[in-house]
Amino acid sequence: MIAKLLVENISQILDYVQEGIHIIDDTGKIIYYNKFAQKIDEIDREKAVGRHILEIYPSLSHDTSTLLKVIRTGKPIFDVEQTFVNYKGDKITTVNSSIPLKSKGATVGALEISKDITEVRKLSEKIVELQNELYSADNNGKQKEKRTAGFTFVDIIGQNSQMLKLKSLALKAAGTSSPVIIYGETGTGKELFVQSIHNASPRRNKPFIAQNCAALPSNLLEGILFGTVKGGFTGAEDRPGLFEVADGGTLLLDEINSMPLELQAKLLRVIQDKTVRRVGAIKTTKVDIRIIAATNVHPEKAIEDKLLRKDLYYRLNVVSISIPELKDRTDDIPRLSDYFIQKYNRLLSKNIKKIDEEVMELFMEYSWPGNVRELEHLIEGIATIYDTDIIKLEHLSSQILSQVSQGDGSPGSNCHPETSRISFTDEGSLLHNLNKKFLINAENDKNKATISVSLKTALETMEKEMIQEVLTATEWNITHTAERLDIPRQTLQYKIKKYGLKEK
Ligand SMILES: Nc1ncnc2c1ncn2[C@@H]1O[C@H](COP(=O)(O)OP(=O)(O)OP(=O)(O)O)[C@@H](O)[C@H]1O
Ligand SMILES: [Mg+2]
Repeated sequence: MIAKLLVENISQILDYVQEGIHIIDDTGKIIYYNKFAQKIDEIDREKAVGRHILEIYPSLSHDTSTLLKVIRTGKPIFDVEQTFVNYKGDKITTVNSSIPLKSKGATVGALEISKDITEVRKLSEKIVELQNELYSADNNGKQKEKRTAGFTFVDIIGQNSQMLKLKSLALKAAGTSSPVIIYGETGTGKELFVQSIHNASPRRNKPFIAQNCAALPSNLLEGILFGTVKGGFTGAEDRPGLFEVADGGTLLLDEINSMPLELQAKLLRVIQDKTVRRVGAIKTTKVDIRIIAATNVHPEKAIEDKLLRKDLYYRLNVVSISIPELKDRTDDIPRLSDYFIQKYNRLLSKNIKKIDEEVMELFMEYSWPGNVRELEHLIEGIATIYDTDIIKLEHLSSQILSQVSQGDGSPGSNCHPETSRISFTDEGSLLHNLNKKFLINAENDKNKATISVSLKTALETMEKEMIQEVLTATEWNITHTAERLDIPRQTLQYKIKKYGLKEK
């Protein structure tokens, strides 16, 4: 019944789709045209239906029309970029997927779905143009200022032993032109490392360009990276790509795991041959660029999930930098906090002097899903809102505490599966549990100061009980207890002392 209704009303339904849909028969005659297609082409569908496709798209030909190609070959085409001039003379770029419509094995027509990317394309071409302008010589033949990467190694705060090793490795890598792959969760400082490598390298006075591979549809990304030559099929213009614009400098390919695999194969060729071939070109151009790839998915996981080609990974893996999450380098938290306090005191003319001890304790236990960026934003937020010389628990009530109360990013949300028994999120939120236990009535956050104090006592009592419980369960095995509670051993030992816990 519903299926029948659907079929009967399919043409009205397709009018709600925000992508152009065209259907032609095997002679090339348009038999269906949805509302969005009408918008892209700026043509009334009454005028289009019944006419040959090339009559409606005079800038296309038998060879360049994807729909006619599908009729000829009987094979689907996916995600092909097409640029054409519509009836009103506007240049439109679409990404098309076309599939043959078959009856008893014969192709009787073809359906095409077109996504209008005209604006995205214009913007991305503009970016390459601007980059090119920025790095080319001015009218007097003088080279313009090349440095666009602002950070250097001194901007990377951190004395955690792992971070020190990474900084030293990155500094060594800066002296070479080897490719680098950087892995780290969001906000761990990947871009900071990449810019620092560029600025410490002999390429420092040459371009530094960062391109996010997840930001653009694949066809567009290919044109942006490799450049294009004036060509019939795609309707593209002669343009250099970022590989050429970045010549002599460094190109950061961010979120490399979002780059389509075919493009990754082409990238591998650029790294190996040190040449690029613009899309549609015959000749190749020599380029001298250092490629740095960044990913926030672990490379091995990305390979397993078929998001990253193994051969490309091995080529990039000459220098591999894996930045630890902030929760795994808590010894840097006080230093980073101080650094951000100084920074925002200066920028916002504030006078924060220190962080209360109990706030720091919370910082040490919190899981920081947004890593250093989250810590920076937190301090920036407090410096913006409050005029205080000490950052206290009450300043966090709407930030970390609310996240902890939802179990989002709380230590509990990171528990190992076998310890989920004590997860904060298991039987409701932490706050919910605390409310039950201590009958705290938050009264819609009316009196923040009182709640914060009560909450603190409540948190401590609960924490003490939990630690005691797990210590008993593990027969006072410190390593196992720390693992189960998902806190560092040092933190556990500190807390055992703080609460005066003793083995019975
Ligand atoms: N070690 C550090 N010292 C000082 N500032 C840092 C450090 N690490 C990160 N930051 C700051 O944190 C913010 C995020 O850093 P960055 O942009 O390098 O992260 P990212 O790893 O590239 O994140 P994403 O994956 O989300 O792009 C920046 O404002 C940066 O200045
Ligand atoms: Mg980044």
